[in-house]
Amino acid sequence: MKNNRKHLAIVAVLVAIGTVLTYYLLNAVYQFPVAASQEAVQIEPLFKFHFMVISFLFALIMVFLLYAAFVFRRQPDDEEDAPHIHGNVALEIAWTVVPLVFVIALGVWATIILAEVTEANEDEMPVKVIGRQWSWVFSYPEYPDVGLTTDLVLPVGRQVRLEMESDDVIHSFWVPEFRVKQDLLPHTETILRFEPILEGDYKVRCAEICGFDHTNMVSSVLIVSRAEFDQWIADQSVSVADLSPEDRGEKWATDFGCVACHSSNGSDLAGPTWLGILGSEEALIGGELVTVDELYLRKSILDPGVQIVDGYQDIMSKDFEERFLAKQAELAEMGVEVDIIEDLIGYISSLQQ
Ligand code: CUA
Repeated sequence: MKNNRKHLAIVAVLVAIGTVLTYYLLNAVYQFPVAASQEAVQIEPLFKFHFMVISFLFALIMVFLLYAAFVFRRQPDDEEDAPHIHGNVALEIAWTVVPLVFVIALGVWATIILAEVTEANEDEMPVKVIGRQWSWVFSYPEYPDVGLTTDLVLPVGRQVRLEMESDDVIHSFWVPEFRVKQDLLPHTETILRFEPILEGDYKVRCAEICGFDHTNMVSSVLIVSRAEFDQWIADQSVSVADLSPEDRGEKWATDFGCVACHSSNGSDLAGPTWLGILGSEEALIGGELVTVDELYLRKSILDPGVQIVDGYQDIMSKDFEERFLAKQAELAEMGVEVDIIEDLIGYISSLQQ
């Protein structure tokens, strides 16, 4: 009996040391990004506490296992059977009831925090989010003149309500610094709320495997001061009628998500760069050579699966004509006549080295 106490005392000390070491190791390996939202501040204690519990359980199991394996190993001259044990009712009740109560308590705690971080706020700013293979598009119902943007710009200190939907498959909106995450579904709106509290340049990453270019489904999330946000809104709200055709083309390239796959600076994305593409000679899949002229650009936008440049894949969506016509009809109702394809070709043609 006295010996048992001694063993338990040693094990207890080893478990305590093991818990502390594992906790520090976990924190060193899984370094958290900065907490940039109010929700992150609320969720952080839950993470920390789980790390502590995980560390304790890991130490508990490993110490008992290794201690028994080394200290109670069979002696060379010991040929006896081990004593027969029929179980221990008190121990079994304890290791059922204690974790049960513990897990329920954690569940209650997590539910309270979940209710807090998903709570609506009267002053929250709605932002529409569309996820599609493979880019993000945002719009601001409070500021209809802004149109669509590919970066998410938000003022610090005001809760936002993202109203999200997918154009195709399931995507997931995830900014690690905000500690909240929500899937985007086709035909169903999902909501995500958070309040940015730290100015900075973050990234939203798609956190749901969604096909070929899933890893590049990344957009900037800029958290700026209220004054900078107001300035940004004013800058974005220039009417398309006041722009030159080339500048309009640049705007369409962003609004319709072209820039997710086509760069304007020569860097290679999922599609060919637009820099210097007009007049260049390209080899198509199948070996045919074409000289890129305005006709080829037009065909490649309207019917992108037909003449694909060798080295690229047939991944461009085929509905751009439809979407351009819908946008043109919408603008025509406001008295603005534009030809989006002409604007785009004008913009692409202007991108010469
Ligand atoms: Cu969208 Cu992964």
